[in-house]
This record gives sequence, structure tokens and C-alpha cells, in this order.
Amino acid sequence: MLLLALESSCDETAAAVVRDGEQILSNMIASQVDLHAVYGGVVPELASRRHLEVINSLVTEALDQASINPDDLEGVVVTRGPGLVGALLVGVSFAKAYAYALNIPLIGVHHIEGHIQAIQLEEKVAYPYLAVAVSGGHTHLYRVDGIGCYSLLGRTVDDAAGEAFDKVAKMLGLGYPGGPIIDRLAAAGDDGGIVFPRPMLKKDNFDFSFSGMKTSVLNYLHRLDTVLDDNKICQISCAFQTAVVDVITQKALRAAESEGLNRVVVAGGVACNSGLRKQFAELAIINGIKVFFPAPILCADNAAMLAVAGDYYLSRGVSSGLDLNAVSSWPLEQVGCN
Ligand code: KG4
Ligand code: ZN
Repeated sequence: MLLLALESSCDETAAAVVRDGEQILSNMIASQVDLHAVYGGVVPELASRRHLEVINSLVTEALDQASINPDDLEGVVVTRGPGLVGALLVGVSFAKAYAYALNIPLIGVHHIEGHIQAIQLEEKVAYPYLAVAVSGGHTHLYRVDGIGCYSLLGRTVDDAAGEAFDKVAKMLGLGYPGGPIIDRLAAAGDDGGIVFPRPMLKKDNFDFSFSGMKTSVLNYLHRLDTVLDDNKICQISCAFQTAVVDVITQKALRAAESEGLNRVVVAGGVACNSGLRKQFAELAIINGIKVFFPAPILCADNAAMLAVAGDYYLSRGVSSGLDLNAVSSWPLEQVGCN
């Protein structure tokens, strides 16, 4: 099927044209980073307004770049949730109007299902596998038995990994979003002997906690008796990132082992992190498993990622009605096995 995909759950408006859930013809992303950076985080109302301003022209650009006429489209797929409800509503409302005007089916998909299935745009990963969903709102481990078939194995009990990266960056006086900046600074030096705790690592479950790690950074800053110069910021960034990466990789590998899974897919914005990619790659060799990372453009929020599940559902006759509504929270395991 030739699908138009739309994403507006947070601070990126995205539109893509994808054929058969695997061939990306265009993948346009309008980032709102500059708009929110001055506030140090996403301002929901501003996000919604910006989505509204750009979505129409972005869809036109996506169709132009794909050399597609609207009449060629066979379906519309849109992020239904979870995310900022006002932001989601822009994409959902646009998608409904577009599908209605063209008389083609519509499907609302789960944002994290999009992230997890993005890898299928690059290489076919056989089911079952362990998915490590690490983004600004999620740090969740799922057993994936197919599209629509997700069992939750563990999750953060407080902050998501991306949220922790962003908050620590803020404490260090770095910009927004903090994850990519910490990643860059961490790679520029070493940890200088600083060690932050690895919360929940000794616990016999697959849950995470990043709030305590964040507080440790804050306490470290309060106790610091030297100036917080560039070198110290690099060291703290490196020590913090190493702690986050240690916890994620170790818990994920334990979960994979307990489920008897030898394939791991890492997805979401934090999957762009170079330290996480490196450590997973090294541990994969030692543990005899295969770890898959989508290209960074498909890890961060984008619309093409939604087309994998969208195509699967629509080509099986599963679609949403025009009463489709945006949902701010929606457990992935509730999307149901289709
Ligand atoms: O998946 P995503 O683009 O949006 C959500 O669904 O939340 O993830 C955004 C999160 C932000 O917290 C951002 O700081 C983080 O991903 N992020 C990174 C990196 N690139 C993006 N975190 C660590 N290292 C990176 N290179
Ligand atoms: Zn996302």
C-alpha cells in the first residue's frame, strides 16, 4: 500500500510517504527545537500551535518529494498516542480530514510501536525479539512476538532515560534537548573518576529508575568545591552517560536471557546515543546475541516509522473510524495481538 504517515506527538511535526511498509519515498521532519529551547523544555501549547502552522505544507512537501499525487495514496497512518494530547490532536484531526477527503482508510497507531518497528524499514528482524524502547517518555522492555504483540517485561518507575538526559543537561547549563549534547561531551573526555550509582541493577526485575541518578548528579554539583569548567562538565556527562548505559544494557541483556531471546532491537530517541550503541555492540558479541539499531534519523521522532505497523494493519482490513481520538497515555501491551 502507498501510505501517508503523520507524526505530531511532541515537538516534531513529521510527514512521510512509504510504500508497502518498507520503502521510504519521503520522510520530512519539521523540528520545533528552536521554539522550545528558550524555555528549556517543550511547552505543550506552543507545540500544538506550531504543528498546526506547518502540517499542511509539510504534507505537500512529503508528497512532492515522493513524486506522488494525493490521489495515489491508499491510506493514512497517524500517531494516536501516547504524547501531548493537544499536539497529537493536530495530527489526528489532519489525518481524519485527509483520509475522508480522499475516501481512503485511516489507522491510528501507537507511537512506541512506530519506534520499535522502525528497524523493519532497514532490515527484517525476525520475531520474537526484545525491544528496548528508550525515548523522552519511555524506558521500557518488551518481548515482541509480532506487530501488535507486545508483552511488557520492565519499565522505568520514575523518569525515562531521555528525560534524565535532558534534566541533567539542564543542571549542567547545557541546551535543550540535552541528550545529544551530553552524548557529544561524554565522547570528548573521560569520567575523571566520577562514579554515579546504577539504581535497580541489583534488583531481580527488569525495571529502571533514573530519578535517583539525576539526584546524585545534583548532589555532586552541590558538593563540588572546584569551578564547573568545561572539563568538569565533560567528566560529569561521561560519568552520567556511562551509568545510564550500564543500567540499560545490563537489564536488557538479562531480560533477553530470561526470555530466551537472542535478538534485541533498540528504539527511540535515546537509541541515537553513541555510548549506548557502542556498549550494546560490545556486549552482543560477548553474549552471542544480535543487537539492531535503526539509523539515527529513524530512532528520533519521524513519520516513516509509523508506516510499518500502519501498512500491516490496513492491508489486513484493520482501520480506525472517523471517531478516532488522540490519547495521552496508552500502554503498548494494550494495542492487542492482531
Ligand atoms: O523518541 P524521541 O525523539 O521523542 C520521544 O518520543 O520522546 O526521544 C527524544 C529523547 C530526548 O529526551 C532526547 O534528549 C533524547 O531522546 N536523545 C538522546 C540522544 N538523542 C536524542 N539521548 C541521549 N543521547 C543522544 N544522542
Ligand atoms: Zn518518540
